Amino acid sequence: MGQTSRLTKLRAIPNNGTIRYLGPFNRGRFFLTTPETLADVLVNRAYDWEKPKHFRTNLGRILGFGLYFAEGDVHRIQRKALTPVFKSRHIRDDLYPIFWAKACECVAELIKHISTRHKDDWGPKASGKGNPVSGTVEVSGWASRATLDIIGVAGLGHDFQALKSPEGELIQAYSKIFAPSSHSWTLFILGMIFPPWVVSLVPLKANRDIKAGVKSVRNVCRQLIKEASAGDARKADGGWIYCLSLSSQMHFYHDTEALVDQLMTFLIAGHETTAAAMTWVIYLLAVYPDIQETLRQEVRENLPSPAWGQGITKHNIDRLPYLTTVCLEVLWCFPPLPLTARVAIRDTRIGDVHIPAGSEVFLVPWAINKSERLWSKDALHFNPRWWLKTVPARSPIEDGGDRETENIKPFGVANFAKEEFTCLLAAWVGRFKMELHDPELAVYKNVKIGGGITARPNKGMYINMTVLDGW
Ligand code: HEM
Repeated sequence: MGQTSRLTKLRAIPNNGTIRYLGPFNRGRFFLTTPETLADVLVNRAYDWEKPKHFRTNLGRILGFGLYFAEGDVHRIQRKALTPVFKSRHIRDDLYPIFWAKACECVAELIKHISTRHKDDWGPKASGKGNPVSGTVEVSGWASRATLDIIGVAGLGHDFQALKSPEGELIQAYSKIFAPSSHSWTLFILGMIFPPWVVSLVPLKANRDIKAGVKSVRNVCRQLIKEASAGDARKADGGWIYCLSLSSQMHFYHDTEALVDQLMTFLIAGHETTAAAMTWVIYLLAVYPDIQETLRQEVRENLPSPAWGQGITKHNIDRLPYLTTVCLEVLWCFPPLPLTARVAIRDTRIGDVHIPAGSEVFLVPWAINKSERLWSKDALHFNPRWWLKTVPARSPIEDGGDRETENIKPFGVANFAKEEFTCLLAAWVGRFKMELHDPELAVYKNVKIGGGITARPNKGMYINMTVLDGW
């Protein structure tokens, strides 16, 4: 993609898992190049590291100062409080029906959308008798609306209805916050130098949009908390508001703003990432029609059509190996969070290398996952069959760099995200044939990536979608 030439240069530097360079004010910085050195930072010595201050400045006001920015014991306590939400049994029994129902609703709304001429796209292309219904759809926005609805129902017991009403307050707020702007980069650079209050005063439109968007999101979160506290919050068993309120760091009725911050983290972390993954998988399936066809066949042979109104279980999806490998390969080739960073809070080590306190490391799955040295020449190619091979396995770690896990594996996602992702993809690929609206995008480097929290095409991803019969 756009970063390919920089990655090529980095790949050429001989190294043992870390590349050292000098950042501003000659501060030592390290770029990690292997899963082992990643694991040293994220797993083995996780509590020697914290998120850098400029992350708080740049991301804090959008993401909220919740779990993501918690460190040390506070982080441990907050994560423990959330255990029930991410338990496999809860996902299997309670959340699966939600994932599939929303996937089916998404498909139904998409069909409605492409069957009706819409002012902001080109569809429908053919509607005469016997002609299949088809139209052009900006899939990134649809993916965001689907995942926002899922996170609302599954985590908060509240349906934002973003699929049905794109003009809803929350989805509009997020589109303001993440609107591509040439000034986002300026704000990011300023955030690396100045404190948050200075950055928030910079008179740029992007800044005003972010402020207005964040204000709306916080209002929605406050309203959700108010509703939960008016009812019996305990009944929302496994819901985030309830679980977070149990954390000894904050009491439900006493610190609403801390809870607002937590909800903001979950809303964004939980919907932006999966929406980015959905965007990339649809793009890749359009680039590789043979993979799309194989996947569709597997889905249609094994799952009921969304039109039949039947539920599915985790067991149904677990029997679809190709679906699982396509999802894993997309997360591998186009990791929704392309980069993260840490700063050493005390002297520590990465492998054999001594790291002085204050050093910053950059962890870039977007680069590591494409390393030909680690994963052979095939690393640069989208190839779901990789996951059926054994050596070296591409195995993602649990979500969020589970700091306690023993496994040394590169970035990936938790069960919640995997199950949600597979349900959404199965419903889409079973029902629609997907082709690139702009064939030039078949060459990866022609897709320009935007600079938000997740890696996404900066002008959206337009796909020609045809509704397929027979399922
Ligand atoms: C395809 C989907 C997803 C991907 C690729 C993904 C990836 C990641 C990664 C790489 C991190 C670590 C970031 C860092 O350390 O800088 C992270 C953190 C986090 N993610 Fe996800 N995620 C996904 C979906 C979700 C979902 C669905 C939720 C909520 C239901 C979620 C909630 C979180 C939270 C709360 C954190 C912070 C965790 C902590 O600091 O302990 N993510 N995610």
